[in-house]
Amino acid sequence: MTTLPADEALSLSSRTEYEVTLQRLRWASRAYYGDGDSSLDDATYDQLRRAALDWEAEHPDDVAANSPTGQVGDGAAPIGDIAHTTRLLSLDNVFAPDGLVAWGASLQRRLGRAPVGGFTVEPKLDGAAIAARYRAGRLVQVITRGDGTHGEDVSHVIGTIDGLPETLPVSATIEVRGEVLFTQAQFETANEVRSAHGAQVFANPRNGAAGTLRAKDRPYRLQMTFWAYGAVELDAEAFLPVGGTHAEVLAAVADAGVQTTAATPAGLHVVASLAQAQEKVDEIAALRPSLPFGIDGVVIKVNDAAEQEAAGFGSRFPHWAIAFKLPAIERQTVLEDVVWEVGRTGVLAPTAVLTPVEIDGSTVSRATLHNPSDIRRRDLHLGDTVTVYKAGDIIPRVQAAVVHRRPEGAKEVPLPEACPNCGGEIDKQQERWRCAKGTACALPALIEYAAGREMLDIDGLGKTYVKALVESGDVADVADLFSLSLDQLTAASGSAKRAAKLAEQIEAAKSRPLSRIFCALGVLGTGRSMSRRIARHFGDFDAIRQADATAMQAVEGIGTEKAPVIVEQVAALAPVIDKLAAAGVNMTEPQESAEASAQGPLSGKVVVVTGKMTGPLEGRGRSEMNALIEKAGGRPGSSVSAKTAILVAASSASGKPSSKAVKAQELGVEVLAPEAFAELVADYLA
Ligand code: IVH
Repeated sequence: MTTLPADEALSLSSRTEYEVTLQRLRWASRAYYGDGDSSLDDATYDQLRRAALDWEAEHPDDVAANSPTGQVGDGAAPIGDIAHTTRLLSLDNVFAPDGLVAWGASLQRRLGRAPVGGFTVEPKLDGAAIAARYRAGRLVQVITRGDGTHGEDVSHVIGTIDGLPETLPVSATIEVRGEVLFTQAQFETANEVRSAHGAQVFANPRNGAAGTLRAKDRPYRLQMTFWAYGAVELDAEAFLPVGGTHAEVLAAVADAGVQTTAATPAGLHVVASLAQAQEKVDEIAALRPSLPFGIDGVVIKVNDAAEQEAAGFGSRFPHWAIAFKLPAIERQTVLEDVVWEVGRTGVLAPTAVLTPVEIDGSTVSRATLHNPSDIRRRDLHLGDTVTVYKAGDIIPRVQAAVVHRRPEGAKEVPLPEACPNCGGEIDKQQERWRCAKGTACALPALIEYAAGREMLDIDGLGKTYVKALVESGDVADVADLFSLSLDQLTAASGSAKRAAKLAEQIEAAKSRPLSRIFCALGVLGTGRSMSRRIARHFGDFDAIRQADATAMQAVEGIGTEKAPVIVEQVAALAPVIDKLAAAGVNMTEPQESAEASAQGPLSGKVVVVTGKMTGPLEGRGRSEMNALIEKAGGRPGSSVSAKTAILVAASSASGKPSSKAVKAQELGVEVLAPEAFAELVADYLA
């Protein structure tokens, strides 16, 4: 498999490289149009194609006669024997706002003036193009795009496509053109059906749709969805509005009972100018993560029929329409491992560990896999090339395996035989497996952690009492600690005196700063330092709860991968957080501490600590040192790098400098003995 960093431009330096690139493009599109699964993901394919086009632009006399860049479907689409009524064309692409402006300028040149009839803006659906012929209101033939002039008859799909009814309520004779695709939900079902029939799963919805159109003798039927983006008259029967705008043509198609792009959640918008079109492009792009189907761009069309005609056609695409391509959000990478974590309620949650791959500007190395049957449904084997989807702030998901790229001897992803946390039995009755001990599996460890010195600091609440409280059912989450009665505490600790002391401690724990309360919840990826940063950044729990993944990324150290995971977990903890608030637990971070640290002597500095602390810092462990650094405005680091400002290095018994101290010296990082550092942060030592 080949993947390239998504926005890296490729340049070809020789005729040989150009020919090799053409060959790779041909293989990939043949595989795509053959079994539906290309050996290159879209981003890589597009990069190679662009590199070939650049080379061709620079060497116009040397362009290969059969270059796939000059052919509809890149020359690999199967050509059937059904002649199209009029050619089914492709679209030219732009990738940024200035491209759209340039297209506007070329349009103006062609028309001799700016268009006056406005533009339409609609989603570019990521499926397969078809022409569907209705005669007297009956769907009689469905044809693939093929080479644009001739397509294949795929009428066997009639009756399996939502939005493309077999009969219309009106006696229309018309050819509608549009895109067939699997919505995400249809894709999941399709792969389930295919697995049940021992067939290979589809790598992604688009490839699945292309394969399904062509597959004539499957023992099962898969439901797809259609949206029309155009229509032409058939058999010279006048049905469409004469001289109608694009929006009017689609409205007539919708009135006749066929679904059009106007019915998608992204809609069909009519705007007056390209500046307004750009705004709609941005709006549709922002909607993309929440759409129930894939789009790979937004299409802008001249709305007025006469202006369309005046702009005319090129050999591959109309001059009156343009696709604003959005970045690829699906890529192929390798599934290296699957790790299992046991959640608070005992649910076993699998996570895919991936060879890091860049998707739309961020590096993805982990993705959710919901449960064991989901893993089987996607037919995942360790070492598989998989398609991974990530849009906006959503947690990346593994779509499916690219089965034909499976390494020989690859094993199915193993499912756990015992609870990965306690080694006990697994309850497999539901889709989501859980430890048979349920909350009792992970909960005691979490409650013990929450009661620890640096979180709620409930002195005396150790392993034994926590175990008793969890086993009795009195504590099912962290918040329950704050509503324990003296009787319950007495039962757990075996003494009324101990219970009274514990109750006092619990009462005191209610006023711990938000950073400690938040840390006590055990949100994945938020240890003590991260919890402090989150609490200081947001100030109170409400603000943390309201933060979406973008807002979460404003916290130092939280990147695109971590942010949605934290947001999702905070949302799942809503009942626990509500209970904490109702019990009177503090929900704010003292502002003085945030302000004091912003002005502290270490403000903005990364400080690394090594060795056993001495002098005034004696006895302080690593996490206490980290807390001290943060209090004084700094940021604790774990290894020395060019970003490190200070290394606090205690001298070792042997007197030999540590490797960190050597590195710090090499990099010119300031090295302080614990005593000197203590002086620097003296005001924060209390
Ligand atoms: S208009 C003559 N509108 O994208 C104009 N195409 O990459 C022809 N597509 O071949 C196309 N959504 O299969 C148009 N809203 C839309 C579209 C759309 C998806 C597909 C279509 C086309 C391909 C070009």
